Amino acid sequence: MKLIFAALLAAVQAVRLSELQNQLGSWPATDSGPSDDDLIRVSLDELYSIGNNTKLSDCDKCKQRLLYAKSLALVKPTLIPSIFTEWCIGTNALKKDTCLRIFGRTTVENSYAGSNFGDMVSLMDPTSYDGDYYCHYFESACDYVSPPEIDASKLWGGSKPDEYKAAPEAGNETFYVLHVSDFHIENDYVVGGEGNCSASMCCTPHSFNKYPVPQGYDISDNSLLEDGPGEGWSFYNSSYVDNVFEKGLYVGYNESIWWPASSFGHYNCDAPELLINNTLKAVTSLNQQLNLSYEFAIFTGDLVDHDETRYISYESTLLAEESTFRDVKYQLHDIPMFPVLGNHDTFPYGQMAQNKYGFSNKFDWNNELMAELWRDYGWIDFDVEQQVSEHYTGFSVKTRRGLKVIALNSNSWYISNLYAFINMTQDYDSFGQFQFLVDELLDSESKGERVWLIMHVPAGADMLPVASQVFAQVVERFSPYTIAGIFNGHTHRDEFKVLYSGFNGSNMDAQTADNAIAHTWIAPSVTSWIGLNPSFRFLEVDSKTFSVMNAYTYYFNLSETFTNNGTEPDWQLEYDARSAYGVDWPESAPLNATYWHEVSQKIGSSNSSLQQYEDFATRYSPYTYDCSESDNCDTFYCYVSTFTIDQYVRCCEHFGLDPDV
Ligand SMILES: *[C@@H]1O[C@H](CO)[C@@H](O)[C@H](O)[C@H]1NC(C)=O
Ligand SMILES: *[C@@H]1O[C@H](CO)[C@@H](O)[C@H](O)[C@H]1NC(C)=O
Ligand SMILES: *[C@@H]1O[C@H](CO)[C@@H](O)[C@H](O)[C@H]1NC(C)=O
Ligand SMILES: *[C@@H]1O[C@H](CO)[C@@H](O)[C@H](O)[C@H]1NC(C)=O
Ligand SMILES: *[C@@H]1O[C@H](CO)[C@@H](O)[C@H](O)[C@H]1NC(C)=O
Ligand SMILES: *[C@@H]1O[C@H](CO)[C@@H](O)[C@H](O)[C@H]1NC(C)=O
Ligand SMILES: *[C@@H]1O[C@H](CO)[C@@H](O)[C@H](O)[C@H]1NC(C)=O
Ligand SMILES: *[C@@H]1O[C@H](CO)[C@@H](O)[C@H](O)[C@H]1NC(C)=O
Ligand SMILES: *[C@@H]1O[C@H](CO)[C@@H](O)[C@H](O)[C@H]1NC(C)=O
Ligand SMILES: *[C@@H]1O[C@H](CO)[C@@H](O)[C@H](O)[C@H]1NC(C)=O
Ligand SMILES: *[C@@H]1O[C@H](CO)[C@@H](O)[C@H](O)[C@H]1NC(C)=O
Ligand SMILES: *[C@@H]1O[C@H](CO)[C@@H](O)[C@H](O)[C@H]1NC(C)=O
Repeated sequence: MKLIFAALLAAVQAVRLSELQNQLGSWPATDSGPSDDDLIRVSLDELYSIGNNTKLSDCDKCKQRLLYAKSLALVKPTLIPSIFTEWCIGTNALKKDTCLRIFGRTTVENSYAGSNFGDMVSLMDPTSYDGDYYCHYFESACDYVSPPEIDASKLWGGSKPDEYKAAPEAGNETFYVLHVSDFHIENDYVVGGEGNCSASMCCTPHSFNKYPVPQGYDISDNSLLEDGPGEGWSFYNSSYVDNVFEKGLYVGYNESIWWPASSFGHYNCDAPELLINNTLKAVTSLNQQLNLSYEFAIFTGDLVDHDETRYISYESTLLAEESTFRDVKYQLHDIPMFPVLGNHDTFPYGQMAQNKYGFSNKFDWNNELMAELWRDYGWIDFDVEQQVSEHYTGFSVKTRRGLKVIALNSNSWYISNLYAFINMTQDYDSFGQFQFLVDELLDSESKGERVWLIMHVPAGADMLPVASQVFAQVVERFSPYTIAGIFNGHTHRDEFKVLYSGFNGSNMDAQTADNAIAHTWIAPSVTSWIGLNPSFRFLEVDSKTFSVMNAYTYYFNLSETFTNNGTEPDWQLEYDARSAYGVDWPESAPLNATYWHEVSQKIGSSNSSLQQYEDFATRYSPYTYDCSESDNCDTFYCYVSTFTIDQYVRCCEHFGLDPDV
């Protein structure tokens, strides 16, 4: 029996997949079948022999393994995690942590996606783009390939009206909206913990530096701490109690630590709850000081920290989601927040299954939890609560002034969501979120309403190339009249991207003011990870058209809190978007795509604007690049002047730059 089985599996490379499925399908189950141990051994041999086949490229090897996994999924899917983990770690195919993240057995203790990998291979076609992209994004085994050209117009039926209406002209009154993003609460933050760690996330109980500090090491040799302890180092265990800042005990630091974590955060660490509370309190006090009366908030995702997946559990994911939203609600009181979830706000990390394939019950807990929590907090009503549980936490609401806000869960198209690789070119809307979006947009268009889109991952950063292209087509179809704003987070950097009609990434002469049709606001993060100063912004919005008239970005200098004896940070206006780049722009005109086209042109042509962009992106941190001294800023023009992944790649090629996607 074993021999027959081995022969059958060895035939994988020779036999067409459908035939193989037939053969395996008729394999007798249970009793007379091979034992698990046999199956594991035979499978490992097969994976090793694929690896040893010198005729195959790395990319082909990866696809062969997927084909093999697909055949296994029909026989014994539960063994896939152990077999692939052993192969991956045993042959050093990928870093150990990566092996575990992708293939490790999924339990409530660790954020490993092995069972999701099994689900994916059972439905994907490894010989199509599914395989190309999986092998590119997960195993770096295949080169980036451009997606096939897709015509997504069936989503809205027909073409865009020839004389599409221009955006309405702004009125003469404005109101304010808060935009916050990427909290990344670190509930395990340890004041005095190692902030200069060798692996994993710093400032946690498991952070360490593998090199011991030298004899006589003095932490004030660190230039960011050199002012201490005259002013007093900030190693206090502080908190907000009833919204009042209480400087806690001086916990000090252990002399075997290179760079101890201070109270309000560290550049190598996610946000302690103290930083989250402080940020929200700064929002409230600035709102009062400036008399903004902001009417609602948008939050563009990511509550959970960046710790290695082995330290992320189902419980810690829940805690991060619940504690952060609780802190927000405590501070915002009756002001509603419209939230989306980010790539970290799920379990296992990045994963989310389509409703249609039968795996989505693994993720229902999250949709139900968010639906209930957001309704409890009064952010959404009963009808919207239903949408949240049905649309992967996506929804559509109308504000009291008549602006429609459409919220989507971008994990549908995220490069680390294994489920998103299933039949990805033909069934590009397998989650149904594009259709949901388009139906809402068509409805608004017919009523003359204007719409804001909020979602975590921007189309041009970590979105799968096919979805990125489809999303851009949707945006183009409904711009500039219906779509008044697109708001993202995810990159932690303060950025923007412009969409041009008729631009394919290499015909640079299409990047004109007339072709600029839409743009996205990518919000700065609250977390300082990595190398950033904490930040948020108030948007000034035209009351009639909901076009954004200005954006006021606030930040504080985290370095100053290292040696200020534990006192609260000093939040300041960093810049306002209308005056920052010195663009000559009519006072009555919104900061629309044409405006950001002008900014983009400046970034492409002037070194000082390029540096200004980088300063804003990182909020003047100690790690901000000096654009004149390195080639680190070279791709920024392509980044801001493209919208999709593929446009960005082609733009970089055009200038002979490495797109690094
Ligand atoms: C194939 O490679 C594996 C390690 O990847 C090695 O252990 C094994 O001996 C090789 N097998 C053959 C038949 O060369
Ligand atoms: C603002 O515009 C409205 C009509 O759009 C007009 O009635 C009103 O007088 C204007 N207010 C000011 C201060 O210009
Ligand atoms: C630092 O704060 C502590 C506790 O609040 C206080 O006792 C001490 O005087 C402060 N030191 C300086 C240098 O301000
Ligand atoms: C810091 O404060 C927290 C809660 O306020 C407490 O649980 C913890 O033990 C304190 N740590 C130290 C070192 O005082
Ligand atoms: C943050 O604020 C919440 C709500 O007031 C409170 O429950 C929590 O203890 C605070 N935590 C810290 C570290 O300030
Ligand atoms: C400091 O850390 C080292 C290494 O983790 C540990 O062995 C030592 O006990 C700690 N010292 C104190 C005073 O906590
Ligand atoms: C961080 O640790 C490394 C050793 O791993 C050391 O060389 C370096 O100087 C440290 N930097 C700081 C700022 O502590
Ligand atoms: C604050 O703004 C409101 C309208 O939003 C206005 O009625 C009020 O006069 C303003 N107060 C101050 C002190 O500017
Ligand atoms: C892929 O999606 C297309 C379009 O929805 C569908 O016709 C086809 O059957 C799907 N293929 C597989 C293998 O599921
Ligand atoms: C982009 O458009 C230009 C001009 O129409 C054309 O020459 C070029 O081949 C196109 N590039 C791609 C990759 O489609
Ligand atoms: C942006 O506003 C300017 C000035 O009102 C207008 O000329 C331009 O067409 C607008 N651009 C878009 C994309 O709506
Ligand atoms: C931030 O604070 C540090 C330490 O006081 C200082 O060296 C640096 O210049 C400050 N950065 C900015 C942008 O103010």
